[in-house]
Amino acid sequence: MSSSPSAQNLFARAAADAVARITGVAADFKVEAPPRPELGDFAVGCFAAAKALKQAPPAVAAKVAAEFQPTELLSAATATGPFVNFRANRAAGFRWLIDATLGGGALVPQTVGAGQTVCIDFSSPNISKHLAYHHIRSTVIGHALVNLNRAIGARVIGINHLGDWGTTHGMVMAAYKKWGAPEPLDVTAINDLYVRFREAMKADPTVEQEGRVWFKKLEDGDAEARALWQRFRDISWAEFESAYQMMDITFDEVRGESAYEPELPGVLAMLRDKGLVSESEGAQVAVLPDEKNPVLLVTRDGTTLYATRDVAAAMYRWNTYGFTRSLYVVDRGQGLHFKQLFKLLALAGYEWSSRCEHVPFGLVRIAGKKTGTRTGNITLLKAVFAEAIDEVAPMMRANAAKIDAQISDAEIERTATMVGVGAIVFANLLPQREKDVDFDLEKVTSLSGDSGPYLQYSHARCVSIQRKGGVPIEHATLTPEVLARLGNDHEWAVARRLLDFGEIVARAAAASEPHLLCHYMLELAGDFSRWYTAGNEDAGLRVLCEDLELRRARVALVGAVQATLKQGLGILGLGAPDVM
Ligand code: ARG
Repeated sequence: MSSSPSAQNLFARAAADAVARITGVAADFKVEAPPRPELGDFAVGCFAAAKALKQAPPAVAAKVAAEFQPTELLSAATATGPFVNFRANRAAGFRWLIDATLGGGALVPQTVGAGQTVCIDFSSPNISKHLAYHHIRSTVIGHALVNLNRAIGARVIGINHLGDWGTTHGMVMAAYKKWGAPEPLDVTAINDLYVRFREAMKADPTVEQEGRVWFKKLEDGDAEARALWQRFRDISWAEFESAYQMMDITFDEVRGESAYEPELPGVLAMLRDKGLVSESEGAQVAVLPDEKNPVLLVTRDGTTLYATRDVAAAMYRWNTYGFTRSLYVVDRGQGLHFKQLFKLLALAGYEWSSRCEHVPFGLVRIAGKKTGTRTGNITLLKAVFAEAIDEVAPMMRANAAKIDAQISDAEIERTATMVGVGAIVFANLLPQREKDVDFDLEKVTSLSGDSGPYLQYSHARCVSIQRKGGVPIEHATLTPEVLARLGNDHEWAVARRLLDFGEIVARAAAASEPHLLCHYMLELAGDFSRWYTAGNEDAGLRVLCEDLELRRARVALVGAVQATLKQGLGILGLGAPDVM
C-alpha cells in the first residue's frame, strides 16, 4: 500500500505542488530525500510529468528549476538529471517543528487515519501453555501496529483471540483427572499434564479417547468440565497478563475462541445454505476452488475446529465494528489457514473479506550463551526479560552514580526494567517482519548500537541537556527572533529528519511494518548525536553555549528531538526514561 500524500509534511507537499503547477501536470509526484543533503531537502522526479508532456525528464526538471519562484516554505530549486531538488526555507522548517512538537501541534497528521476502524488480532496465545516465540513476536508487533494506527487517528480495536477451546483442552482435563492435581497448579504444571498425556497416547492409542470424551463434555456444557476449564484459563490468563503488564500492553477485547461456541451452529448453517459444506470421511469440510486441501469445519466426532471459530470471529468483528481493515498478526506458518479463511468468507458472499489481512512474521530467537531459560521451543518470556534486566542494571547503576541527582534504588530498578524490557521489544521489531532472526542478548541490550536502550539513552540525554541548559523553552518564549538563531547544517540535519516522522509513521501503519519506524528512530538518534558531539570539536556548534538566546533556540530543538523520540518509543511500545 502506498502512503497517502496527506501523510507528507507541508514542505514535501509544497515541492510536489510546485512541480505540478509549473509543468501543468497533475500527478501524484513522489517526494524523496536527495541522496546527499548538499543537493537539497526534497527531490521530486519529473518522470510522470515528462511522460505526459512527451519530453525528456531532465528537460522538464530544468524547466521547473528555472521557473521556480521561492515561497514561504521553499527557498530554491535546482535540477539534477530528471530530479528537481528543492531546498526548504530553514526558518519556516524550524518554526513548524517547534510548533508541532512543543506547541501542542502534531508531527503526525491525524487526518491520515481519520474515519478508519482497524481491528488488530494479536498475541492470542493458547491457554495452558506459556507464551512461545511466535506469540512474543505477535504481541510486540501487534502492539506497535495498534499504536501506529492510533497515531494516525484511526479507531483501533486491539483483540486477544485467546486459544481457549479445542481438543487439547480435553486432553489436559483428562490428564488432570487421571493423575491428579499438580502442586502448585501453574501454567508449567498444566502444560506438563498435556505433555504427559501426549506421551501416554503414544504408548497406548486408546488414551486419546479419554481426551476426546472430556472435550465433548466441555462442548456439551458439563459442569465439572467447565469448572476445570475455567480454572486453567484463569491461571493462564494471570500468567499472560503479568507479561503484558511488563510491556504495558492492554487489549480492547479479550475474546477467546470459546466465546464463539454458541454461534457455530448458525455459522455452519449459513455455510451449508450457501452450498459451501460437503462431507468427507465423516467430517464436514469446505472445498475451495484452486485449493488442494479443504477447510476442516467439523470433525468426525462432531467437534468444531479452529477455522470454524475463525469464521465466526471474523463475522463478529465485522458486525460489531464494521472495520476498514482487520489484521491478524500471526506467524507465517498459518499463512494457508488465513488464505483459506478469507477465501471462504469471500465465497460466502462477504465482500469485506478483502479487508482482512494476515500480517505474517518470521521467528526471532535468542542466540548466545544463555540458554537456561529455554525449554524446547518455548522461551519463558519473563525469564528473558529478567536476563535482559540483569544485563542492563549494572549500567544503570553506574550511570546513576555519575549523575549528581539523587536517584533512589527503586527508581534505578524501574529504569532497568524499562530498558531491559525495551531491549527485547525493540529486538523483535527491528528486523523486517518476515525475516527470521537470531539475536544476541548482549548486543540488543547495549547502549551503543542499533538497540532499544540506545534510543532510550538518547532520550534521557535530551532530557539531561534540557535540565543542564537551564533556559526556558516554553513554546510562548520561542519567538521568531529566538528561532532565527538556528540554521547551521548540523541543526538542520536534525530538523530535516524530524520533518519525516509523520510520513514514516503513516507508511509503517499502512504497510504494517514497524521496522520502518525503528530504522527512522535510529537515524534520528544518530543525527542528534552527531550534532551534539560536533559541539565538542567546534565551540561554535555547542548546544549549551554562552549566548543565552542561541542556547535557548538550540535547547528547544533538543526538546523537539526529545518529544519525537518519546512519541516514537511510545508507539513502538518502549518506555522513555528521563534518567538512565
Ligand atoms: N491461538 C493461535 C495460536 O496460538 C493464534 C490465534 C490467532 N488469531 C486467530 N484469529 N486465528 O497459534
